[in-house]
Amino acid sequence: MSRKLKNILVTGGAGFIGSNFINYLFGLSATGSKEFMDSGFEGRIVNVDCLTYAGNLENLAMVEEKFGKGVLEGERRYFFEKVDICDRAEIERIFRQYDIDTVIHFAAESHVDRSILGPEAFIRTNVMGTFTLLDVARNYWGCSLGNQRDDVLFHHISTDEVYGSLGETGYFTETTPYDPRSPYSSSKASSDHIVMAYYHTYGLPITLSNCTNNYGPYQFPEKLLPLMISNIRDGKNLPVYGEGKNIRDWIYVEDHNRAVWQIVNSGRAGEKYNIGGENEWQNIKLLHKVIELASPKVGRTADEVEKTIVHVKDRPGHDARYAIDCSKIKKELGWERRMTFEQGLQLTVNWYLEHQEWVDHILSGEYKNWISANYGDRK
Ligand code: NAD
Ligand code: TYD
Repeated sequence: MSRKLKNILVTGGAGFIGSNFINYLFGLSATGSKEFMDSGFEGRIVNVDCLTYAGNLENLAMVEEKFGKGVLEGERRYFFEKVDICDRAEIERIFRQYDIDTVIHFAAESHVDRSILGPEAFIRTNVMGTFTLLDVARNYWGCSLGNQRDDVLFHHISTDEVYGSLGETGYFTETTPYDPRSPYSSSKASSDHIVMAYYHTYGLPITLSNCTNNYGPYQFPEKLLPLMISNIRDGKNLPVYGEGKNIRDWIYVEDHNRAVWQIVNSGRAGEKYNIGGENEWQNIKLLHKVIELASPKVGRTADEVEKTIVHVKDRPGHDARYAIDCSKIKKELGWERRMTFEQGLQLTVNWYLEHQEWVDHILSGEYKNWISANYGDRK
C-alpha cells in the first residue's frame, strides 16, 4: 500500500459494484465474508450518485449508520451527495468542500439492452460525465505535464466489452485494440480514451481497469443472474437470448473491488489493468447451474424449473464471447481472486432468495420512498 488516500470521491456508489466497494472499504462485506474485510482504509468517502433507477441507498444503510449521519460530526467518514456527475458546478463544489485527493469512478449507465433502446443517456453520463469529472480534477489538482503529482489519482472503472467480441479462442489483453459494438460499450470505450488523453496531454495521474461480468449481491434484477434467480423464485419464465451459446467470464464483485483497491493503492499512473474471473460459461449452461442451486430453495424440482426456460429473440449485435487475460495485475500487483465460483454462486443465489424485500423494493421503485423517508427529498 503505497499511496496516501485521505478524501476519496466515489461516483456511482449507490449502484451494484460501487455500493459493494464502499461496504468493502469500511469492512462491511454484504455477505459477511471474512476474506473481504481487510481493506485497511482509514480515510473519508464522499459518495456522489444521482440515484437513477439503478442506485439504491438501502445498500449503504449500515455504512451510513456506522460512519455517516449516525456518528458525531468530527468523526464522520462517510458522506452522501445526490449529484449528477455532469453537473460541473456541483462537482467543483464537492472537490473544494471535501478537498478530494482520489476519484474512483464507477458511475455509469450500465445495461446493454437499455443502451440499445435509448443510447442518449449512455453518451451523456458515460462520456460527458467522465469528461466533467476529469476536467474538474485536472483544474482542482493543478495538473499539467510540467506538474505531475503523485499524491492524487483518478481511477476509472471500465469493462472488457470495449474490446469487442471474441471467437472460440483467444483472450483480451491490455493491448488488444478497442472494437466496441453496442452503444454501451462504445460509450465506455470513448470514456477510456478520454481518460488516457488526460494522462498523456495534461499529466493527470490516472489508472484504468477493464473487468469482466460481475456477480453478487445488490445487482439490479435486469442483468442475467439476479433476473433469473428472481424469476425462478416467482415461477416466471426464464428468457434466454437466442440459443444461449454466448459466453461470458464471471467474477465475484468483491474480487473485482479488491483488484480496484490494489490498483488505487499501488498501480502505476498511466497504466490500465485487466481484471477477470478466468471462469467462462455459456449462458445456457450457467442457467442450468443456477436452476440446480435455486430450485430446492424455492421448493420446486430442477426438472420443473427447466421447463420455464424460453428462448427469445436474440439481442441485436450480441457479442459472442468475452474472456480476459489478467496476468498483468497478478504479476505486477500480486492480485488473486479469493472466491471460488461454486461458493460465490451459491452465496449469490442465497442472497437474492433471502432478500426478497430488496428485490421487490428496487423493482417497484419503492426504495425511493425509503430514501425520502431516510434522507428527505434532496434535490
Ligand atoms: P449500476 O447500473 O448498478 O450502477 C450505476 C450507478 O451510477 C447507479 O447508482 C446510478 O444511480 C449511478 N449513476 C448513473 N448515472 C449517473 C450520473 N449521471 N450521475 C451520478 N450517478 C449516476 O452499475 P454497475 O454494474 O455497478 O457498474 C459500475 C461500473 O462498473 C460502470 O462503470 C460499469 O461500466 C462498470 N462495469 C460493470 C460490470 C458489470 O458486470 N456490472 C463489469 C465491468 C465494468
Ligand atoms: P447481461 O447480464 O445483460 O450482461 P452483458 O450483456 O453486459 O454481458 O447479460 C449477460 C448475458 O446473458 C448476455 O450474453 C446476454 C444474456 N441474457 C439473456 O440471455 N437473457 C436475459 O434476460 C439477459 C438480461 C441477458
